[in-house]
Amino acid sequence: MIRTEFIADVKKLVREWKSAGLSIGLVPTMGYLHEGHASLIKKAREENDRVIVSDFVNPIQFGVGEDLESYPRDFEADCNLCESLGVDLIFHPSPEEMYLPGFHSHVGVDTLSTNLCGKSRPIHFNGVCTVVTKLFNISEADRAYFGQKDAQQLCIVKRMVRDLNMNISIIGCPIIREDDGLAKSSRNTYLNAEERQAALILHKALTKGEELVKSGETDASKVKQAITDIINSEPLAKIDYVEIVDASELQAVETINGEILCAIAVYIGKTRLIDNFFA
Ligand code: PAF
Repeated sequence: MIRTEFIADVKKLVREWKSAGLSIGLVPTMGYLHEGHASLIKKAREENDRVIVSDFVNPIQFGVGEDLESYPRDFEADCNLCESLGVDLIFHPSPEEMYLPGFHSHVGVDTLSTNLCGKSRPIHFNGVCTVVTKLFNISEADRAYFGQKDAQQLCIVKRMVRDLNMNISIIGCPIIREDDGLAKSSRNTYLNAEERQAALILHKALTKGEELVKSGETDASKVKQAITDIINSEPLAKIDYVEIVDASELQAVETINGEILCAIAVYIGKTRLIDNFFA
């Protein structure tokens, strides 16, 4: 496996691979890889001749007061995992390599970025779209792999690719959970033992919500209320949002009758966790 910090190295390899007619899969990550990432890498490995993993904590998607500095990092462990999964290239640029002095260009997706996580993280999705566009251009990947845990991110990236005619297929992959149901996330590492236990309330609440929808409840407010009540029963949990939106435009629905996304963000202590289901 090749490791590099430099865009020029990636471009050189990509040129060689492309001229040999090889397909490329990209797994964009912020590192501190876990089994959720591993599932994306395995899928990319199955579907492409070459696999690139980017490992970059993207500063422009963090707002003031968010966890940019404390975001967990372990590049050696990431390399070991990638190597064991047959990754061809791990790209680990510095912020200076990605954002040259005088960097002023941004990519954004209106409307889809303003609700759900966009309400409390107003610059987040423009930062994501911008870095992802750069990674697509650098890697010239045929396919890129994203987890459904970040459901809004997945919808936004798909829409950006469609709207801007980008030459790449976006593959969404299912949420990977711990045995007790907590969705895998690099941020789970912030939780102490008591908080880790309390964090189970997210999955518990969503499971109830999903059961209600599957059993035919169409009143979104009733489903949201049931989820809210369960989360509020956990003293360490503080709700950021509980929303039911249509799965395409991500706008709140009153009646559940097409494909919906039920998404939640909850603080457990100081750690903000997200989870969701589609129905
Ligand atoms: O989901 C993430 O880890 C990040 O938002 C991404 C897509 C790698 C962009 O920095």
